[in-house]
Amino acid sequence: MLQDKHGRTISYLRLAITDRCNLRCYYCMPECGIDFVRRVDLLSYEEMIRLAKIHARMGVNKIRITGGEPFARKDLLTFIRGLSAIEGIDEIHVTTNGTVSADKVKEFKDAGITGINLSLDTLDAKRFEKITRRDEFDKVMQTFNLLLEEKIPVKINVVHMYGVNHDEMADMCNMALNNPVDVRFLEEMPFNGSNTLRKESWTAAQIENELRSLFPAIQQITVPATETARVFTIPGYQGRIGIIPSFTRTICGGCNRIRVTPTGQLKTCLYDNGVLDLRKMLRTESNDEVIEQAIRLAVSLKPKDGFEAESSIPTSEGRESMATIGG
Ligand code: GTP
Ligand code: 5AD
Ligand code: SF4
Repeated sequence: MLQDKHGRTISYLRLAITDRCNLRCYYCMPECGIDFVRRVDLLSYEEMIRLAKIHARMGVNKIRITGGEPFARKDLLTFIRGLSAIEGIDEIHVTTNGTVSADKVKEFKDAGITGINLSLDTLDAKRFEKITRRDEFDKVMQTFNLLLEEKIPVKINVVHMYGVNHDEMADMCNMALNNPVDVRFLEEMPFNGSNTLRKESWTAAQIENELRSLFPAIQQITVPATETARVFTIPGYQGRIGIIPSFTRTICGGCNRIRVTPTGQLKTCLYDNGVLDLRKMLRTESNDEVIEQAIRLAVSLKPKDGFEAESSIPTSEGRESMATIGG
């Protein structure tokens, strides 16, 4: 088992496989994009398979592929087939913007994908273009409908942005009325490349108040402490509603996850800036045992919460784009 000094067991690895993305969501990157990592600096699929095997031996059973946009990287499904062949890996999820994968959805299940988290902040095509700076709304909806057809579990991630999409909360929730999908509202975080948070941003508590006034019958349900979302049901709705306190960070006590960035930095918290250079180890160390011990040590020191992690970063270091962190 992989454990930290606060008694938390780590069983969930988030692998960000690229920082490239075809969208330019304003809350994630500047319009001009970011300096994307050179391909040689990315972990190769072979390196990530080796890393996943090392983690699986330590008790990791869930892997989430993130980006950037994971489907921007070639042959993703071949890589996922490789991951699903690893003993001990029971779940492989992908967080995607859904704009470039519609033609592959029919292969997802067979490749071993057990669930998709789809980023979708609005149901209005014009607004989508404003938020993402790209005209790709129809493709996301196409992917969404194919995922439902294929009966692949879907969670929709809606970044809640006051003044931008807050007036659509009821419509977004209604995607869960006749579909078995979770619609989750995320607190906006300052990981947009400029290190600033819009002052209008709502907290999870404000989002909850609004949900309660829109749906007076809404009820919170108990979910495992490892969930990032607080989860609610609305009578008559097939799917569920969630609120993710990504910025107020009230979920850290149950945290079961670590991250690896596209360049192979191990992050034991979303809010740290990398604590172990796994790429260097993978490229110089042939003994997996040595890498395993280094990961165990780094994980044992996982900060108590996202505030402690953040306080360890020198103020001179700016906050990154979500695309380089992997969400
Ligand atoms: P499930 O595995 O389906 O529960 O999804 P997930 O929430 O772990 O993954 P997803 O990639 O969909 O993440 C959605 C959002 O949740 C992220 O963009 C963050 O805003 C937030 N989030 C995920 N993991 C963490 C975390 O460890 N800490 C904090 N503070 N927020 C997180
Ligand atoms: N704040 C909150 N959520 C963000 N995401 C990307 N950037 C931010 C941000 N600054 C979301 C995406 C995706 C998830 C992994 O992170 O919409 O659904
Ligand atoms: Fe875990 Fe850090 Fe996220 Fe808290 S902020 S839930 S400790 S990764």
